[in-house]
Amino acid sequence: MAQINPSILSADFARLAEEAKAVEGADWLHVDVMDNHFVPNLTLGVPIVEALGKATDTPLDCHLMIEDADRWAPQYVEAGAGSVTFHAEAAAAPVRLAREIRAKGARASMALKPATPIEPYEDLLPELDMLLIMTVEPGFGGQAFLDIMLPKIRRTRELIDKHGLELWLQVDGGVSAATIERCAEAGADVFVAGSAVYGAADPAAAVRDLRALADVATAAAPWACDH
Ligand code: DX5
Ligand code: ZN
Repeated sequence: MAQINPSILSADFARLAEEAKAVEGADWLHVDVMDNHFVPNLTLGVPIVEALGKATDTPLDCHLMIEDADRWAPQYVEAGAGSVTFHAEAAAAPVRLAREIRAKGARASMALKPATPIEPYEDLLPELDMLLIMTVEPGFGGQAFLDIMLPKIRRTRELIDKHGLELWLQVDGGVSAATIERCAEAGADVFVAGSAVYGAADPAAAVRDLRALADVATAAAPWACDH
């Protein structure tokens, strides 16, 4: 079944605990950490992740859009994140970092900006629990989905199948009722949605609707037919 991860970047930061509770049917809560260097925006860090983890039963999916990921990512595991995503462009030693995240007890995930190809990372995929393909340039919520990323999603799904990996394939950026089916058909199985969830009158219903759309599209997708 498709997993839907609402991004709290589009939530009210003054009411984070309530906003987390508003989407308790979601699989994970997506937490965007930005440092104003890797991306031109600044959001939150370790203390808020720690506090948020105590305020909700939904596991935290921390997306680190920060430089020097090797140094900081393990601290997000210690802060309670169930999944930690570092950017390939920001990690000096991605294999060592993924192993450290796993050893500390979280799922290890790596993200690719739109201009970063998947092919150089094929041999690293077994070291990861999830790969995140950005479908906007990272930094802000509410941007338009980049259709030009669909071939990369397809190629990544082919690599996952070729190697028989249990790797989740996440998409993040511009995912909504208008675009989620395309992502699922191409091979994504974990969907981040910020404005499409928190911009809705009923965020919990938006999560259910997105999951239903993704599940129908996945069932019809060529990559999922033999599963
Ligand atoms: C963007 C963030 C996303 C953002 C998505 O850099 O990584 O997680 O919150 O927001 P929407 O779904 O509104 O594009
Ligand atoms: Zn994100």
